[in-house]
Amino acid sequence: LKLFSANANPQLAQEIAEYLGLSVGAAKVTRFSDGEIALAIDESVRGADVFVIQPTCGPVNEHLMELLIMIDAMRRASARRITAVMPYYGYARQERKSRARDPISAKLVANLLTAAGARRVVAMDLHASAIQGFFDIPVDHLPGVPILGEYYKNKHLENVVVVSPDLGGVTRARNLADRLGTGIAIIDKTRPEPNVAEIMNIIGDIEGKTVIMADDIIDTAGTITLGAKALLDRGAKEVHACCTHPVLSGPAIERLEQSVLKEVVITNTIPVDPARLENCSKVKVLSVAPLLG
Ligand code: R5P
Repeated sequence: LKLFSANANPQLAQEIAEYLGLSVGAAKVTRFSDGEIALAIDESVRGADVFVIQPTCGPVNEHLMELLIMIDAMRRASARRITAVMPYYGYARQERKSRARDPISAKLVANLLTAAGARRVVAMDLHASAIQGFFDIPVDHLPGVPILGEYYKNKHLENVVVVSPDLGGVTRARNLADRLGTGIAIIDKTRPEPNVAEIMNIIGDIEGKTVIMADDIIDTAGTITLGAKALLDRGAKEVHACCTHPVLSGPAIERLEQSVLKEVVITNTIPVDPARLENCSKVKVLSVAPLLG
């Protein structure tokens, strides 16, 4: 078994390797002066069971291309089996046509991975779990809920309700609620335009309760911060939030810091530069390394 990492999350690869008592394989992913990706794999992978750890987080296209090129190189170097370990699967939110002539980029990514030579995929909290079916190779789809659930169990919050910030996240919220032995409520959210969230209604009892909002992704943090405000306005006692994938683009960190949220728990499927979190005291990072390991 050999582990390799490109440039997206070497820290996570290192943690997984330590968990397994291995070291990360010798490989360097750099750039030629025109921006093309240069790859050097500095040890034999002939006959090996190779795991390439690379979330396709931003810059998504760069990290995706690094992953494809590394898989291609491993295949040409006679690896026995290549598994793409994608703690975050970029383009997962483009998994169906919602308007005429939309692309289905999540399927294109699946085709590219298979064509490059991946024979298995390990992913976490795919935005739509049906993406598993975009592949004809095995996909291990791991939820972040056990890690988040364990954290909240040890926090001993009282009178809790888990809230899904949109209709698509109800199953995830129910899984977390089952682990914590609580009920759920649901926010009815619309998107008038991409990256803009609007809260319409809250379904369920949140009055006087400690709310944990659970999402797969926090991107611009619009969904989670607007949701938190709506929940407090409608009588919740306090609001916490958690997600598996901290995309945290644009104004996200500022929004989280200025929001009414008590605490925001994220995982390290996507690395967040600690310097960006310096002025944000609310964010707590949990590691998915033991789970992936
Ligand atoms: C959308 O359906 C996802 O589950 C997340 O709620 C969404 O990606 C979060 O985006 P943002 O933080 O930009 O509102």
